[in-house]
Amino acid sequence: MNLGSWARQGCWLAGLAVSVMAAEKPKVDVRKIPLPVPRAVSFEREVYPLLQEACFSCHGPEKQKGKYRCDTKAGAFKETENGPAIVPGRSEQSVLIHLVCGLIDEMLMPPPSDKPGQSEKLTNEQIGILRAWIDQGAVWPDGPISAAGRPVTFAEDVGPLLKTACAECHSGAGAKGAFSVETRESVLKGGAGYGVVVRPGDAAKSSLLTIVAGKDEDLPAPEKHRLPAKPQAQLRRWIETGAK
Ligand code: HEC
Ligand code: HEC
Repeated sequence: MNLGSWARQGCWLAGLAVSVMAAEKPKVDVRKIPLPVPRAVSFEREVYPLLQEACFSCHGPEKQKGKYRCDTKAGAFKETENGPAIVPGRSEQSVLIHLVCGLIDEMLMPPPSDKPGQSEKLTNEQIGILRAWIDQGAVWPDGPISAAGRPVTFAEDVGPLLKTACAECHSGAGAKGAFSVETRESVLKGGAGYGVVVRPGDAAKSSLLTIVAGKDEDLPAPEKHRLPAKPQAQLRRWIETGAK
């Protein structure tokens, strides 16, 4: 028996063990899962940034909803209440895939937004990337993830994002609360009432993230301040990486 067939045998046995272990769990209809993308995917450039954008706000260093975190290798591969999150080589048996496809009752990940029309459900392409990565062996290198995409900058990412969402009230002479989103310097300076809202490198102490999560009840229009999950994640990453 050559190595390849040993490996296949191993996968098959692992798969069998999983289906036996999962026998009492509710069955998921795997025919409803979007197909894996038909190419080799990069963990560093595609998979990790995707998890970062879509999942880390609830499953990262600060929060571990459902006792799950996927910013670390050990956390990502954990056994969940519904079975193993990731079964290398078997995306159709991986709970992570079932969750992002909404195949487990009431547990679509990311959870549906309470705001209508703001679904942050992963696209079929994104699910296809996760599936392909798992099917290709779910390789997650040890150590810190290096090339996790291009760095987030004010000039390229955060500036345009804040301009679109906030400039109508936070620019020019009449900027509300004297907070202007026009330049990186003006954003770092903060406003008249709140003072500094961005602390480079320290997301937990940056109240801007609470504001754009729509969780600052003291602001006059919290819903005008709430951003969808992706721009929120981008702002967080900008702050974590030094607000350049
Ligand atoms: C807005 C917060 C939020 C986001 C974003 C989010 N989740 Fe979750 N996740 C939760 C909550 C809440 C639970 C616990 C649900 C429960 O136990 O009913 C959970 C549970 C889980 C579990 C454990 C399930 C189990 O069976 O124990 C996994 C795995 C998971 N999420 C994966 C993901 C992935 C992958 C993403 C990104 C694609 C993601 N989540 C994005 C809130 C979130
Ligand atoms: C429809 C108008 C409107 C929009 C859009 C808006 N805001 Fe505001 N914002 C306000 C008002 C009004 C205040 C309260 C100002 C005051 O207290 O005088 C405020 C206050 C703030 C403050 C506190 C300023 C201070 O007093 O120190 C920050 C920070 C802020 N907004 C950030 C944002 C961000 C970031 C966005 C975009 C995601 C945004 N706002 C979008 C109207 C708006």
